Amino acid sequence: TPVKVAVAQGDGIGPEIMKATLSILKAAGAQIEPEFIELGEKVYLSGNTSGIDSKAWEAIRNNKIIFKAPITTPQGKGYKSLNVTLRKSLGLYANLRPVTSLYPYVPTNFPTMDVVIIRENEEDLYAGIEHRQTQEVYQCLKLITRPGCERIVRYAFEYAKAYGRKKVTCMVKDNIMKLTDGLFHRVFDEISIEYPEIQAETQIIDIGSARLAASPENYDVIVTANLYGDIISDIAAEIGGSVGMCGSANIGKEVAMFEAIHGSAPDIAGKGIANPSGLINAAVAMLAHIGQAEIGDKVKNAWLTTLEQGYHTADIYQEGVSAQKVKTQEFAEKVIENLGKT
Ligand code: NAI
Ligand code: MG
Repeated sequence: TPVKVAVAQGDGIGPEIMKATLSILKAAGAQIEPEFIELGEKVYLSGNTSGIDSKAWEAIRNNKIIFKAPITTPQGKGYKSLNVTLRKSLGLYANLRPVTSLYPYVPTNFPTMDVVIIRENEEDLYAGIEHRQTQEVYQCLKLITRPGCERIVRYAFEYAKAYGRKKVTCMVKDNIMKLTDGLFHRVFDEISIEYPEIQAETQIIDIGSARLAASPENYDVIVTANLYGDIISDIAAEIGGSVGMCGSANIGKEVAMFEAIHGSAPDIAGKGIANPSGLINAAVAMLAHIGQAEIGDKVKNAWLTTLEQGYHTADIYQEGVSAQKVKTQEFAEKVIENLGKT
C-alpha cells in the first residue's frame, strides 16, 4: 500500500520544481500518496501569521512524512519563519545535507568533493529568542543544550559509521563563545572517544569554512551548530555546482521532512528554468527513509544519466562544456526517459 506523504508545493519556484519531481516519482513507480497541504506565503497573506493552518498540521501529524518545496519567508519583519516552526515543533533535530561533486558532468573546481554536513536543527540562534531591549539595543539569545549537542554529535558519528565515512569534523567558535560552543566542542570530544575507528577533528568555524571553500575534498562528515550549518551548506553546495543541486533530510524521532536546501528563488520564479535536482535528491532520501530505496536508486541513476548526457538547467549550464541548456520540465522529462535504463 502506498505511503501517505504531506506534500507542500511551496512558493516562488516551489510549485515548478515540485511538479517536475512528482512526475518523476510517479513514472518511477514510487509507492506514495501525496496529501497536498497549504503553507507559506498564501497562508501568511490570508492573515494567518503562522503560515500554516490546522489542516496542514493534521496531515503532517497523521502522515509523519513531509515533502516540501521551498517557501518564501519575510525578511527582517513580520512573522517567525515557518521553516523554524516546523523543525522545532516536530522535533526535527538533525538536518542532513550531502554535497557530492558530479565532475565532469557538472562543472565544479572540486572534482572529488564528497561531504555531508550534519546541522543541528533546533537550537542555537535559531531558537527564536529575540527581543528589543531598549530603543537602540536588540538581543538574540544563543541557546545550546547538552542533550541537543549529544543528540546531534551522536547522530553524526552513527551516520559516519553506517555509511563507512572515515572522519567527522566539528566546527565551532569556542574561542569566543566559550560556554555555548565550548559545550558543543566538549560533547564532541566525549562522544568521539566511543568511535575510535572514525577520525575526529575540530576546527574554528571561520578558518574551517575558508578551508572548506578552498579544499572541500579534505572533508568527509561535518557536524556543526544550526546557523554555521546553514551557511556552510550553501557554500558547499554552490562550489559543488549550484545550490540548486542539493537536497536535505530533516530527521526527528517520529516525523521526517525532506526538502531542497535552497529557497524559493523569487528572482527566477515563474520562468520554468529552476533546477529541480535539489528536490529530486530530497525525494531520493525520502524514498530510502520509507523503505523504497530501490525506487530511490532508480530515480537517482536516471537523474545522474541525465546530467551525464549533458542536460543542464541554467544554474549549472556552462558554455564550452558539452551540454545543452534545458528548462525544468524538459529536464524532468529526460529523467523520466532514463528511468530503468542503467
Ligand atoms: P534562494 O536559495 O532562494 O536563492 C539564492 C540564489 O540561488 C538565487 O539567485 C536563485 O535564483 C538561485 N537558486 C536557488 N535555487 C535554485 C534552483 N533550484 N535552480 C536555479 N537557481 C536557484 O535564497 P534567497 O533568494 O535568499 O531566498 C528566497 C526566499 O526563500 C526567502 O524568502 C527565504 O527566506 C526563503 N528560503 C526558504 C527556504 C526553505 O523553504 N527551506 C530555505 C532558504 C530560503
Ligand atoms: Mg539556508
